Amino acid sequence: PRVIFSGIQPTGIPHLGNYLGALRNWVDLQNASLHTTDELYFSIVGYHAITMPQQPSRLLSERSEMMATLLAIGLDPQRCTIFHQDQVSEHTELAWILNCITSFGKLQRMTTWKSKLATAKNVSETSDIDDKDLSLGLFAYPVLQAADILLYKATHVPVGEDQIQHLELSRDLADVYNRKFSKKFFPLPQHIITPTKRVLSLRDPASKMSKSAPDANSRILITDTPVEVERKIKKAVTDAERSLAYDGVARPGVSNLLSILAALKAASVAGKQAEKQMGPQEWAERLNREIEASGASSGQHLKATLTEAVVETLRPIQTELERLRGDPGYLKQMELLGKEKAQTVARRTMAQVRKSIGLN
Ligand code: TYM
Repeated sequence: PRVIFSGIQPTGIPHLGNYLGALRNWVDLQNASLHTTDELYFSIVGYHAITMPQQPSRLLSERSEMMATLLAIGLDPQRCTIFHQDQVSEHTELAWILNCITSFGKLQRMTTWKSKLATAKNVSETSDIDDKDLSLGLFAYPVLQAADILLYKATHVPVGEDQIQHLELSRDLADVYNRKFSKKFFPLPQHIITPTKRVLSLRDPASKMSKSAPDANSRILITDTPVEVERKIKKAVTDAERSLAYDGVARPGVSNLLSILAALKAASVAGKQAEKQMGPQEWAERLNREIEASGASSGQHLKATLTEAVVETLRPIQTELERLRGDPGYLKQMELLGKEKAQTVARRTMAQVRKSIGLN
């Protein structure tokens, strides 16, 4: 049986990249696991969030908002363990132990670290070294992520493309640990990725859609109203070609919109066997036929179709989120349930780990 683990930072509202790259896959894995003995763990990773400066009151509310969001997208707390990482202290305990078997050089090669470092250096032109604002915690971020995964002896980790290198480190650390202390103790976790493993910015299709990009029009948040969705998609970068085609290299803007569309439509027919799922190129062809018939411009037609698909996908999620926000008692209860389920497994693993490394 598989043990599936994934996490998300409680920093802001998830965007379409988080949803299509990871979150929706979590729900699909949950639904597919109905007749299996797969175990699923989904964690809100507060300890990762604080590797960058956070305003405490805001973090506190974003943490609970994220719990509500995970339930609203369709994760079922009875079938999965949905919990706050920061409520299970074994995460930091295992992270410390893994820190002690991780070389400095390995962490220096992490691209997320390198890009943060490069940004920090650019920001301050006045001094030459400027990693001074980057914390030790940020440097060790991928080790904490490995601890998250290994604590539950996870075998599979559904994430977007930007997390693949972190996953490789997790595998590497599992292997180092196993060889040093206890053969085959940790499974080597594999990633599971979706066709939309890298959703691009609507404003700059050379970069990924991200929570931190300064231009808020570059991302669609899962709480955006239909009017906001329409406005952001209208402003999305496309091109002046007369017909649509999926070509990520020559036409990244249009291709990004086509893959988002295909992914959303695939979701809405999931489970219904009848309709064959269409990929982004098939969507391009279908929309081209509709354009020929109606005389509309290709970019406008694509954007209108996409807007409708996004609004339709988000509507039930937003309704459920609204309902859950009105029931803080239930949310607290689910938080506690997740914490207890996670703790049971985490404590068991840590007892074994302490023994193996000679700290019992
Ligand atoms: P985070 O919070 O940045 O993002 C959550 C998930 O969303 C995916 N994602 C994307 N997928 C496609 N296109 C995009 N533009 C896009 N942007 C984000 C991410 O790949 C991720 O799957 N380090 C992790 C959190 C974490 C974790 C873990 C994940 C902590 N411990 C253990 C897996 C296992 C992160 O910062 O995700």
